[in-house]
Amino acid sequence: MKVFLIGGGGREHTLAWKIKQSPKVEQVFCAPGNAGIEQIAQCVKISSDDIDELAAFAKKEQIDLTVVGPELPLTLGIVDMFQDEGLRVFGPGKDAAMLEGSKAFTKELMKQQGIPSAFFSTFTDAQDASRYIQEVGAPIVVKADGLCGGKGVIVCQTLEEALDAVNLIMINESFGDAGRKIVVEECLQGEEASVLVFTDGKHVLPMPSSQDHKAVFDGDKGPNTGGMGAYSPAPVVTPALEEQILEEIMKPTIRAMEEQGHPYRGVLYAGLMIEDGKAKVLEFNCRFGDPEAQPLLMRLKSDIVPVLEAIADGDLSGIELEWDPRATVCVVMAAKGYPKSYKKGMEISGLEKAGEMKDTVVFHAGTENSGGKILTDGGRVLGVTSAGDTIAEAIDLAYSAVEQIHWEGVHYRKDIGMKALEHRHKTGD
Ligand code: AMP
Ligand code: GLY
Repeated sequence: MKVFLIGGGGREHTLAWKIKQSPKVEQVFCAPGNAGIEQIAQCVKISSDDIDELAAFAKKEQIDLTVVGPELPLTLGIVDMFQDEGLRVFGPGKDAAMLEGSKAFTKELMKQQGIPSAFFSTFTDAQDASRYIQEVGAPIVVKADGLCGGKGVIVCQTLEEALDAVNLIMINESFGDAGRKIVVEECLQGEEASVLVFTDGKHVLPMPSSQDHKAVFDGDKGPNTGGMGAYSPAPVVTPALEEQILEEIMKPTIRAMEEQGHPYRGVLYAGLMIEDGKAKVLEFNCRFGDPEAQPLLMRLKSDIVPVLEAIADGDLSGIELEWDPRATVCVVMAAKGYPKSYKKGMEISGLEKAGEMKDTVVFHAGTENSGGKILTDGGRVLGVTSAGDTIAEAIDLAYSAVEQIHWEGVHYRKDIGMKALEHRHKTGD
């Protein structure tokens, strides 16, 4: 069969790598792709949010299954549009993707369903929001309602920061329409983790736990990024907690979406804060995480294509997943300056040597092939991912591969996976 993948980041390179391994697949196309995806798929220069062009391409090439990576086309309604055109597609429809597309919608849904989350209020008026913030005090979190490319959440330690955040979002309109409404919520403490499930709207197939590293610098210092590295499994998510997350968070959310008339089909991603053995939802995403997809899909032993097809066709019953018991770690290598402004076009060396290392895959994110040279073409450039019998072994392998790779100004965190090691020490594993 012919598979069409939408997107061009590290998550999509990982999906392309996994889909390509399926005996069912003859050809993979990807729009727009990157220099890594280009080595295993045919890339087409269509932007991932140009849903009309994407549908025209899928029709012309008689694509058997389209897989949507990023959130923007999902919230724009790519899935509804493809389905209307008779095209088979993996991902939630526009109304279901609201779980990521509108934080106010999701907070209301969680409140109605009693799903554990931070307490909150929503506002459409800056003065009302500022008054509320002065009443409840800091620390507090100010969130733009809509999609802001990961920049719309401001965790404020002081009242002043929180009032500035309201100004930034509502008065300066820094995120445009996405900030017409805001959510102001309690600042939760604890350790974060990500739990993702496959669902057809009724049946739920959980993936193992993982953990992202959002802050740019070691020790979770500095501004938030799209994610500087991830690993799986995350020991903070104990088996008991996994059960709580499934029963008290995932299943009620999926059930509520169905009851409200927008069944959720695809990957549902819960960003969680864990404190004293209890999980609360920070956010939902309507897709695979990036970089969580890298360590997770490296652990997935089963063919992913029948899973994606079953969800696209609306019946996941009868599908089982087999996971590699080993641990995996992904270290993101980023351009100088990221997550602020950065230069593109730096030549990357050492890719081949790193790629030859055992149990290691160098997933590309922002890269471009220019006449055979691989150049940086984004903020997050590579996700070097390794598997090991223990998390410590996977960390060592990933960093020895990272050390082979160089470009001017490259930076990466040196402590990816360290929190997992701390848990192991605490529990004596
Ligand atoms: P989100 O995009 O909603 O996941 O938010 C991005 C990051 O902001 C999260 O990964 C957390 O680090 C932080 N964050 C979001 N909401 C809260 C909260 N209520 N309390 C503390 N930190 C939060
Ligand atoms: N790793 C965070 C995200 O994919 O949103």
